[in-house]
Amino acid sequence: MVQSLRVSYVRAIITFTLVGYARGFPTFQWPNPQLAYADSQLYEGSMGILVQDCAPRDNTTIPAQWLRIAYHDMSTHDIDNGTGGLDTSIQYELDRAQNIGKGMAESLNDFKAFRIAAPFFGMADTIALGAVFAVAGCGGPLIPYSAGRVDATVAGPETVPEPQQDLASHTEAFRRQGFTPTEMIGLVACGHTLGGVRQSDFPLVVTDPEEDVQTFDKTTNFDNAVVSEYLQNTTQNILVVGPNVTTRSDFRIFSSDGNTTMQRYVDLLSSYTFSETCQNLIERMINTVPSGVTLSQPISEPFNYVISEPLLSYRNGTLAMATTLRVINPSDNPSRTITMLWSDRQGSFCPSSGCTSPSTSTQQVVFSLIGNIQGLTGERYSFNATINATTSISKFWFKINENEGSDPVIVDNGGSGFVIGQDTVFIDNSRSENVILSSSFNEYRKVVVAVRGDASSSVSITSSDPNSAASTPPYVLIIITTNLQLDETNPAEGVFTFFTANVSETVNFLSITGDVGGSSYTQDNFDMTVVNFPFVST
Ligand code: HEM
Ligand SMILES: *[C@@H]1O[C@H](CO)[C@@H](O)[C@H](O)[C@H]1NC(C)=O
Ligand SMILES: *[C@@H]1O[C@H](CO)[C@@H](O)[C@H](O)[C@H]1NC(C)=O
Ligand SMILES: *[C@@H]1O[C@H](CO)[C@@H](O)[C@H](O)[C@H]1NC(C)=O
Ligand SMILES: *[C@@H]1O[C@H](CO)[C@@H](O)[C@H](O)[C@H]1NC(C)=O
Ligand SMILES: *[C@@H]1O[C@H](CO)[C@@H](O)[C@H](O)[C@H]1NC(C)=O
Ligand SMILES: *[C@@H]1O[C@H](CO)[C@@H](O)[C@H](O)[C@H]1NC(C)=O
Ligand SMILES: *[C@@H]1O[C@H](CO)[C@@H](O)[C@H](O)[C@H]1NC(C)=O
Ligand SMILES: *[C@@H]1O[C@H](CO)[C@@H](O)[C@H](O)[C@H]1NC(C)=O
Ligand SMILES: *[C@@H]1O[C@H](CO)[C@@H](O)[C@H](O)[C@H]1NC(C)=O
Repeated sequence: MVQSLRVSYVRAIITFTLVGYARGFPTFQWPNPQLAYADSQLYEGSMGILVQDCAPRDNTTIPAQWLRIAYHDMSTHDIDNGTGGLDTSIQYELDRAQNIGKGMAESLNDFKAFRIAAPFFGMADTIALGAVFAVAGCGGPLIPYSAGRVDATVAGPETVPEPQQDLASHTEAFRRQGFTPTEMIGLVACGHTLGGVRQSDFPLVVTDPEEDVQTFDKTTNFDNAVVSEYLQNTTQNILVVGPNVTTRSDFRIFSSDGNTTMQRYVDLLSSYTFSETCQNLIERMINTVPSGVTLSQPISEPFNYVISEPLLSYRNGTLAMATTLRVINPSDNPSRTITMLWSDRQGSFCPSSGCTSPSTSTQQVVFSLIGNIQGLTGERYSFNATINATTSISKFWFKINENEGSDPVIVDNGGSGFVIGQDTVFIDNSRSENVILSSSFNEYRKVVVAVRGDASSSVSITSSDPNSAASTPPYVLIIITTNLQLDETNPAEGVFTFFTANVSETVNFLSITGDVGGSSYTQDNFDMTVVNFPFVST
C-alpha cells in the first residue's frame, strides 16, 4: 500500500515536470477516503471560520482553547509502554481538576458542530486538525497534517502537568510524553503564546478577583512575545511572575537551562526560530498516538487531480455518471479543455481510446483559511457522462488539453484509471431525494439504491452520522445499519430494482451491501456530502 502510494507520487511528479508545471503537487491512488477527506477538511473545510484572525471568546481566544485541548488530550501518552496520546480520551476526562476550564467543552462543542467525524476520521483526528487551524488562525506556522488517529472510548491516566508541580515532575511528565527537557521548554512556550490563565479556574494562581483572564503575553497572536517579554523581564505571565511562587511553573521551565533555549528563540541569527520550533514540536505533539496506531503521510500541500464521489443514476436504459476533478493552481487558460474518458464493462461499446464526455461546468475552488494562507487557486471541473446501461462503465480517466501546442496531460490515477469496482448495487443519485417536511421544515434523505437484479435481492446500508444526539461530551459518531425496503415509488425498470431507506440529513458517509443472485456487492464510504439529490417537500 505504502509502496504503491510512493510509486504514484513519483509518477505524478514526473508527469508534471514533463509538461512544464512550475511545481508538482502530490497525488494519491484513488480511492483513499482517509487522504481525500483529510485534504478536503484541511483545504476546503470550514474550521477556519472560527479561528480566523485569532478570534476572541471568553476573554481568551478560540484558538487558545483548541490548542490547549489538543495538548491535554495528548498528555496521557506514556512512551515507556506506548499507551495514550492524542486519542480523544479527553472526552472522558473533563471532570478532572487538571482539565478545568470552559474552553474544553466549548472546543468539543465547536468540533461537533462542524460535523467532521467519519468512520475513517474520528474526534481525535478532529482535535489534531483543530490545533493546526488554531495555530494558523493566529498567524503561526502551517503544521503538516496527518490523519489516522484512533478514538479511545474510555479515560486515560491523570497525567496533565499542573502549575504547582516542581520542575522534576514536569521534566518527567514531558519525558513520558516523548519530549526532552529542551523540547519541554519549547513546547510550553509554543503553547503559552496563546491565551492565558482564568481566575475562576485557578484562583490560587490568579489571586486578583478583578481579573478574568491573565494572558501569557501582551499579543494575541502566535508569536515569540511570550519569550521576549520573559527575557526582557517585562512579562505579566502569571506562571512566571505570579504572586504565588509555587505556581510559577513557566518560570521554572523557561529558566531550567539558564535561559539558553529561550534566548535562541529571540536571537535573529539563530536557526532555532520560534516559528520553526513550534511547527516541529506541535506537529510531534499532535502526532503522539498509542503504539500500533499508524498515521497517514503528512499533508502540507493539497493533492492535485482529486475527484469527487462518482454519482450514478439509472433511467430508461441509460446510466448517468457525474463526478468532478479538482485542479490546483491551474494556469489562467480559457482555451483549456478537459475531457472525461471511460471504458465500458464489456469491451465492445467504447472505442479503445475510450468513450468521451466534455466537462459541463467549472467552478472556482473556495479554499479554507489554510489554503488561502498558502495562496492557492483551484478549479473544479464537472462531468456528467451518459452511459449505455448494458455495456456500463468499468473505469474512467481525464485528458487535460491546454490547446497551446503542448501534449495533453492524462490524469489516470497512476495508470490504473478510476475504477468502478461494480455496477450491480449503487446509490441512485437522481431517484434519491432530499425531503423537506413542510409542517416542520425538518429534512431527511430518502436514499434509493439501484440493484441490477430482482426483488429477491437484499440491501442494507450502514450510515455514519457525526451529529451526536448528546448535548455534552463525549460526542461519538452514530453508526446505524438499516435494511432497505422495496421502493414503491420507483418500480423495477429494465434489469434494475430499487430499494429505499430514510437517513438523517446529517449522515455524511454510507456503506452499502447488497446480496444479489447469491453474490455480495459493496459500495464503501459513499460520500453523502457531494450528492445533489433533488429537493421535494411534503
Ligand atoms: C508544565 C506544563 C504546563 C502547565 C503547568 C500549564 C498550565 C496551564 C494553565 C494553568 C493554564 C490556564 C488554564 C485555565 O485558566 O483554564 C494554561 C493555559 C493554556 N495552556 Fe498550558 N500548561 C502547560 C503546558 C502547555 C503546553 C505544552 C501547551 C501546548 C503546546 C499549553 C497550551 C495552553 C494554552 C493554549 C492555554 C490557554 C488556554 C486558554 O486561554 O483558554 N500548555 N496552561
Ligand atoms: C471578560 O472579563 C470581564 C472582566 O475582566 C468580565 O466582566 C466579562 O464578563 C468577561 N467576558 C466574558 C465573555 O467572559
Ligand atoms: C502504561 O502507563 C500508564 C501510565 O503510567 C498506566 O496508567 C498504564 O496502565 C500503563 N499501561 C500498560 C498497558 O501497562
Ligand atoms: C499557592 O498555590 C498552591 C498550589 O495551588 C497552594 O497550595 C497555596 O495555598 C497557594 N498559596 C497562596 C498564598 O495562595
Ligand atoms: C524583573 O522585574 C521585577 C519586577 O517586575 C524586579 O523585581 C526584578 O528585579 C527584575 N529583574 C531583573 C533581572 O531585572
Ligand atoms: C532567565 O531570565 C529570567 C527573566 O529575565 C531571569 O529572571 C532569570 O534570572 C534568568 N535566569 C538565568 C539563569 O539567567
Ligand atoms: C426512453 O428511451 C427511448 C429510446 O431510447 C425513448 O424513445 C423514450 O422516449 C425514453 N423514455 C423516457 C421516459 O425518457
Ligand atoms: C447499448 O449497448 C448494447 C450492447 O452493445 C446495444 O445492444 C444497445 O443497442 C445499446 N443501447 C443504446 C441505447 O445505444
Ligand atoms: C447527470 O445527468 C442525469 C441525466 O441527465 C441526471 O439525472 C443527474 O441528476 C445528473 N447528475 C448530476 C450530479 O448532476
Ligand atoms: C421514510 O419516511 C416517510 C415519511 O415519514 C415514510 O412515509 C416512509 O415510509 C419512510 N420510508 C422508509 C423506507 O422507511
